[in-house]
Amino acid sequence: MSARMLWLVLVCASVAHAARILAVLPTNTKSHYAMYGRLIDALARKNHQLTVITHFTMKNPPTNVEEINLAGTIPEITNNLTKQHTSLKPDAVRNLEQIMKECVHACEVVSQNPAVKALVNSSKTFDLVIVEVFGSECFLPFGTRFKAPVVGLLSSVPLPWVNEQLGNPEGTSYIPAYMLGFGQSMNLWERFVNTIAVIYSKINYKNKSQQPSQIIADRLFGPGPKLETLAQNYSLVLANSHFSINEVRPLVPALIEVGGLHLDNSQVLPKELKRLLDNSHEGVIYWSFGSMSRIETIPSKKLAQIFTAISELSQTVLVRMDRQLLARNLTVPDNVYTMDWIPQYKTLCHPNVKLFISHGGLLGTQEAVACGVPTLMVPLYADQALNGRAMSDRGVARIISLKDSCTDTWRETFYDLLTDIRYKENALKLRDIFLDRPLPPLETGIYWIEYVLRHRGAGHLRSPALDLSYTQYLLLDVLALSIAITSLAIYILHKLFRYLCTRCIRWWPKDIVLEKRLFRRNISLFHCFLWIYKVKTN
Ligand SMILES: *[C@@H]1O[C@H](CO)[C@@H](O)[C@H](O)[C@H]1NC(C)=O
Ligand SMILES: *[C@@H]1O[C@H](CO)[C@@H](O)[C@H](O)[C@H]1NC(C)=O
Ligand SMILES: *[C@@H]1O[C@H](CO)[C@@H](O)[C@H](O)[C@H]1NC(C)=O
Ligand SMILES: *[C@@H]1O[C@H](CO)[C@@H](O)[C@H](O)[C@H]1NC(C)=O
Ligand SMILES: *[C@@H]1O[C@H](CO)[C@@H](O)[C@H](O)[C@H]1NC(C)=O
Repeated sequence: MSARMLWLVLVCASVAHAARILAVLPTNTKSHYAMYGRLIDALARKNHQLTVITHFTMKNPPTNVEEINLAGTIPEITNNLTKQHTSLKPDAVRNLEQIMKECVHACEVVSQNPAVKALVNSSKTFDLVIVEVFGSECFLPFGTRFKAPVVGLLSSVPLPWVNEQLGNPEGTSYIPAYMLGFGQSMNLWERFVNTIAVIYSKINYKNKSQQPSQIIADRLFGPGPKLETLAQNYSLVLANSHFSINEVRPLVPALIEVGGLHLDNSQVLPKELKRLLDNSHEGVIYWSFGSMSRIETIPSKKLAQIFTAISELSQTVLVRMDRQLLARNLTVPDNVYTMDWIPQYKTLCHPNVKLFISHGGLLGTQEAVACGVPTLMVPLYADQALNGRAMSDRGVARIISLKDSCTDTWRETFYDLLTDIRYKENALKLRDIFLDRPLPPLETGIYWIEYVLRHRGAGHLRSPALDLSYTQYLLLDVLALSIAITSLAIYILHKLFRYLCTRCIRWWPKDIVLEKRLFRRNISLFHCFLWIYKVKTN
């Protein structure tokens, strides 16, 4: 039997049987669920027995999926840009604190849920626990409770505390942090800010998330290992990033990039929208700020400026918003077409779509990349500044700050993006790179989840870095030892030379000429030492 055959037989023989999987997805964020939900669906299709704690239940759950419905327990997070005027511009500190606050709040609410409490006490068994990895880890003890390995789902690039939990290298000299808008080539000041921001966010995480989460977890699960310890015991984390569109970064084997797994080719365009797209021969510009930020809530003065720039365009501008919610004194330009809900991926991939106006959310960015559409990025919060920067560095996007923009900014940016063909060329190149994978991202995710099942937690993936102290990991002890050895060597040489010189000084010729000659030549360190000691003893 050839090695390849043997390999196939081994893999097929050990394909996980239908496993019992518990998935705990406490936050109510539609965009995150776009990733988690696809994985849950795919696991269900592979006949695993699933128990899912979620806000987004399936329409017709198959018999192998049991859901604990959280819908209605936490209002969905939406940003009102009029009210939260500050969010017209990304703010690293506020961003992080908001993430932690929302996630800890979700923990609090979900841990009070009677069905969740009953599950903790139930006699059910699970082979695997899947948890959301974001701003809190309060449900990690489910792994201990059911003696099952834990897989984390992360809907973004690795966050600073996630790197720490997996022993993944931080590399602040060239990897911009989640909440900052830096590129991969940073100047001294940016590297300084990046490093401080990463350290600060890790300290902040301990206080603002880990401490309150610990209290919630202790109440729900009773005493057990600390969350901090459990967080260093993920079997695997699937991150919704990819080096082609995010950052080039080192990854430990337990951190797998599956960016783009939510891309759903089965989307269909509503008839009316299809007709609009097909018939817009001048092209279509598609504008959406995702599910969390409503365009209607942009302060009306700002929106009026944008509308002015839009009214001068020959293209149709398709906007995802509800006209009823607009301020009364705003006039919507004639070339604007609004819809309350739009199948985004399918729309972006329509050949008539020329440009995407986006807030720079990761999912929308992946969709635009997968369709090869240039983007106008308007970062508002979270990782959007980072994504915007990554796209503009690749020459497929321009960034506008909503706060600092005026009509002219928009006019100029539209003109540039629509007339300079390099944006489209770069976008097509990037699309090809992004889509070229050994295995499609959804399959990659499923493969690795089943890998953990096959190898009962796959403990061999865990980075040994996690067992080191900071001193050991940063080689501070090695540095100290090196300094000690060097100092000792110098000290010994010093003693040795002094001894030798005081001894040999008696026969050393006393004429200055020799010393001068010694200096003029390319003298060795040894001669130099001898000479120093000779002078001293003389
Ligand atoms: C946003 O906030 C403003 C000011 O507080 C309020 O007038 C408006 O109704 C809010 N919009 C939405 C959609 O909640
Ligand atoms: C779970 O079990 C513990 C101990 O057996 C008990 O104290 C607690 O009330 C139970 N909780 C629920 C929700 O049944
Ligand atoms: C870590 O996970 C492994 C299996 O994945 C488990 O055997 C071990 O008990 C876990 N350690 C802790 C501290 O929970
Ligand atoms: C942690 O946060 C609390 C308030 O939530 C504060 O009182 C405490 O000083 C903080 N601890 C540290 C170490 O920052
Ligand atoms: C619309 O009216 C509001 C007050 O009702 C005002 O603050 C805003 O500037 C007006 N917008 C425009 C575009 O005139």
